[in-house]
Amino acid sequence: MTWTRRHILGLADFTTAEYDIVLQTAASFSDVLLRPMKKVPALQGRVVTNLFFESSTRTRSSFELAAKRLSADVMNFAAATSSITKGETILDTAKTYLAMDTDLMVVRHQHSGVPQVIAAEMDRLGVQVGVLNAGDGQHEHPSQGLLDLFTICEVLDASKPRSELLAGKKIAIVGDILHSRVARSNIWSLTACGAEVHLAAPPTLLPREFADFCEADPNRKLFMHWQLEPAIAAADFVMTLRLQKERMSQHLLPSLREYHQAFGINRDRLQLCKPDVKVMHPGPTNRGVEITSDVMDDPAMSLVSKQVHNGIAIRMALLYLMGNLKN
Ligand code: NCD
Repeated sequence: MTWTRRHILGLADFTTAEYDIVLQTAASFSDVLLRPMKKVPALQGRVVTNLFFESSTRTRSSFELAAKRLSADVMNFAAATSSITKGETILDTAKTYLAMDTDLMVVRHQHSGVPQVIAAEMDRLGVQVGVLNAGDGQHEHPSQGLLDLFTICEVLDASKPRSELLAGKKIAIVGDILHSRVARSNIWSLTACGAEVHLAAPPTLLPREFADFCEADPNRKLFMHWQLEPAIAAADFVMTLRLQKERMSQHLLPSLREYHQAFGINRDRLQLCKPDVKVMHPGPTNRGVEITSDVMDDPAMSLVSKQVHNGIAIRMALLYLMGNLKN
C-alpha cells in the first residue's frame, strides 16, 4: 500500500495499513536518529511552517526538529507575537505563509476544527499544501496518538513495531478524558489495532457519551470505569493525562488532593497491573496530581522520556509521507 493522505487531521478514519506504514517509516527514521549524522535530505528545498495558535513545548519543538532532520526549511509562527494580535484572521495568516511557498503546515489551535478549515481552504485554492493537525481543541492530536502507538509497539517488539502487536493488550487511559484530544486520538488508534482500552475518571471528566465513541464498529473494545482499580487491573500499559485546568469552566473536581487520592498513579496502585506494566503521559505533567514523581522518574516503569524522543521519528515519518505524495 502507498500513502494517499495529503492532510493528517485525525485518526478516527485511519486504517491498520496506514498505522503500519507510519510505524515502519518511523522505525527507519528512528535508526537515522541513532547515527552520528542525524539528518537526511528527504525534504531538502521544501518549506514546513509551524502555525501554533496555542502554547506548546514538546509538540512544537519536536515538529521543528523533525523538519530540520529532513533538511526542510522551517518557519515558526507563535500567535502571541504575530499579526493575529492586530486582528489578522487565521486564514489570512495561513495564506501569508502560503505566499512564502510553504509546502506543509503544522497547525495547533485551542478550537476544534481549525486545521480542518485551513486544509479545506488549501484544497479550495487548488494548492498542494499538506496540513497536519498538531492538536485542535478537544478534538484530536494525531501525531501524539501515533507516537504513543509507536512507543507501545517498541516495548512489545523493538525490532519491528507493527499494529498487530497490540492485539489483546489491556491499556488504561486515566484522567481528564473529557478535555483530552490525546485520549480521543489514542482511543481511535489503540482500538483499531486490537487493544482493549479502559477509560477511568470521575464522572465529571468521563461523560457516558464516550461509550458511543466506537459503537459503529463492534470489533473495537472500549470500556468505561468511574473508579481506577478495575481499569488498571492486569493492565499492560497505563496512560495518565493532565488535568486541563485551563479548559475547565466549572468546578468539575472537589479538589486536586481528592483527585490524587482516587485516581493518582502511584507505585502501590501499579501493583494491580501486570508485573512489567509501563506508564505513559503525553506531558506536560502535574507532578503529585495525576502521577507521583517517584513513578514518573523511574526508568523501569515510565515511558515519558521515550515518548518525547519517539515524537521526533514519528513526526519525521508524517512530514516525509505527506511531503512525498505522488500527485
Ligand atoms: C497535550 C496537548 O497539548 O494536547 N500535550 C502534548 O501535546 N504533548 C496534552 C495536554 O496539554 O495536557
